[in-house]
Amino acid sequence: MSDPHHSAFELIVNGENQRIECASGTTLLEVLRDDLGLTGAKFGCGIGYCGACTVLVDDVVAHACCLLAATLDGRTITSIEGLSTEVELDPVQEAFLEAGAIQCGFCTPGFVMSARGLLDVVPEPTEEQARAFLTGNICRCTGFASIVRAVGTGRTGLDK
Ligand code: FES
Ligand code: FES
Repeated sequence: MSDPHHSAFELIVNGENQRIECASGTTLLEVLRDDLGLTGAKFGCGIGYCGACTVLVDDVVAHACCLLAATLDGRTITSIEGLSTEVELDPVQEAFLEAGAIQCGFCTPGFVMSARGLLDVVPEPTEEQARAFLTGNICRCTGFASIVRAVGTGRTGLDK
């Protein structure tokens, strides 16, 4: 008889199939960080408020701290580690660097993933759209202006 407290399922994480076995209450963030060693997504609040854990689930922005991993069987997950290659950053990452949109960096993977999710749908967002979309992410350092500037550069979306 199967153990109701234990789950086994598959995820496609950054293009690779992953067989996961974990306690049923394990979050996607815990699977990424603890099982797969992908520590780019951060634990900030754990309640869907700060956006530090943002990833894409089937190309849609999601807070990994709020998703039970076992409910995502067969789904496609993209974390910050999946955006760049060894030799090339994603245009969003380039834009963050150029805009100086990083200080301590704790929030940055979440902001970059949210920006990627926005720009995949709206390649040239207005400042208002960028600010509205990023309300699910919090930064305690930069004051947001440089982050919005990075997201708002047309180059960010058009190069993808
Ligand atoms: Fe997920 Fe804060 S850690 S929203
Ligand atoms: Fe420090 Fe955003 S750069 S929290």
